[in-house]
Amino acid sequence: MSADTARIAVVTGANKGIGREIARQLAERGLTVYLGARDEQRGRAAADALRAEGHDVRFLHLDVTDETSVARAAGRLQEESGVLHVLVNNAGIGGPMQPPSETPAEQVRAVYETNVFGAITVTNALLPLLRKAPSARIVNVSSAIGSLSAAAANHDPTGVHPPGQFPVMLSYATSKSALNAVTLAYANELRGTGILVNAASPGFVATDINGHHGQLTTEQGAHIPVLLATLDDDGPTARFLGEDGTPEGQVLDW
Ligand SMILES: NC(=O)c1ccc[n+]([C@@H]2O[C@H](COP(=O)([O-])OP(=O)(O)OC[C@H]3O[C@@H](n4cnc5c(N)ncnc54)[C@H](OP(=O)(O)O)[C@@H]3O)[C@@H](O)[C@H]2O)c1
Repeated sequence: MSADTARIAVVTGANKGIGREIARQLAERGLTVYLGARDEQRGRAAADALRAEGHDVRFLHLDVTDETSVARAAGRLQEESGVLHVLVNNAGIGGPMQPPSETPAEQVRAVYETNVFGAITVTNALLPLLRKAPSARIVNVSSAIGSLSAAAANHDPTGVHPPGQFPVMLSYATSKSALNAVTLAYANELRGTGILVNAASPGFVATDINGHHGQLTTEQGAHIPVLLATLDDDGPTARFLGEDGTPEGQVLDW
């Protein structure tokens, strides 16, 4: 991508955890970051803290499950910038650890509302602004646990779950598989438009979503999403990239 200075980014679910750190790292690179959060108080507090560090970060009220909220956010961006260069669909919720046969469909539906339909709602609402940029990036924050190849091999790529029990998180794991498929669908539609669409696995990061059991810091977890959000114009699209400690990351199997 060309000069960082005038670029605008939206990060959903950015009031804490990996999203907040993605917002910080993008702002550090000179982007103007709209910090999306569903709760006004938490969102404003996070944006204020990052602004106090000297970054151009603005609170954006955005509940990804609420179409009115998403439309309002898109309207505000249209008014204030008229263009968007980076969208990071980071907002996500976890699901219970239990066998699929004991997981009510309602629980799965609730997780999909945020992790899958939320990302679609936000992407569709902001695509007109992304299309106005000379080049743009969409990053969907997925998980290695959404890898169908890994699931088919009954292998837990995060190493979190005992052998033979993968996938135990029907709602969360399959929501990320669906998000991966959604990523490919958009990447294929948008080929040749200058909009690169990729999925990121941040690694197992200590945040509220896993009771801070993760081994990586949010700084480490933000690395791959930020890398994909700041790809050069000749960078890849339709890629699933994970954290492995190298600057390039590791290409994961869908
Ligand atoms: N941590 C890991 O090990 C790990 C591994 C793989 C993938 N991920 C993914 O990384 C992303 C960030 O997770 P995290 O680990 O940073 O967890 P987190 O600390 O729990 O953060 C999740 C963020 O999503 C927000 N959110 C939830 N529902 C929302 C909605 N309807 N609208 C807008 N924002 C919403 C939360 O806001 P509230 O504060 O209002 O709840 C929070 O800001 C998620 O997509 C997660 O699946 C995490």
